[in-house]
Amino acid sequence: MEINIGLEKEGREEVAKVLNKYLANLHVLYTKLHNYHWNVEGKNFFQIHSKLEEIYDGTAGEIDEVAERILTIGVRPAASMKEYLELATLEEAESVGIQGKAIIETLLADFTALIKDLREGIEIAGKHGDEVSVDLMIGSLENYEKTSWMFRAFLTE
Ligand SMILES: [Fe+2]
Repeated sequence: MEINIGLEKEGREEVAKVLNKYLANLHVLYTKLHNYHWNVEGKNFFQIHSKLEEIYDGTAGEIDEVAERILTIGVRPAASMKEYLELATLEEAESVGIQGKAIIETLLADFTALIKDLREGIEIAGKHGDEVSVDLMIGSLENYEKTSWMFRAFLTE
């Protein structure tokens, strides 16, 4: 059925493209957070193990929110692992034992990349008058910025 939410088709499609890439990256992140949750080793085991669980639970909620926003603006979300791996820019990690410090360093780099993408996405959605997608991405941005601060604090010697 025809969509009429006051946004031009071209704009909706461009915003959906941004959101689909974000959705793909969230899936890579979700898997990677589990990988590290399982493979963390060393003296920070308990701390990192439970923190990662808290983060991936948040990522799961975000995945659903982003996919449903894409549908709301009249576009199909990417919905297979094949598409996610094609669209994602974050890299997966091998299943090997890893220390907490190395995990947080990698996640800080991933969050930094997501923050950059979100800032660009906010600008694109804003340009097309899609304030709800802007709001969604600002919420995520706030979360990644705050967690990045915590990661930096953790990494301070
Ligand atoms: Fe677990």
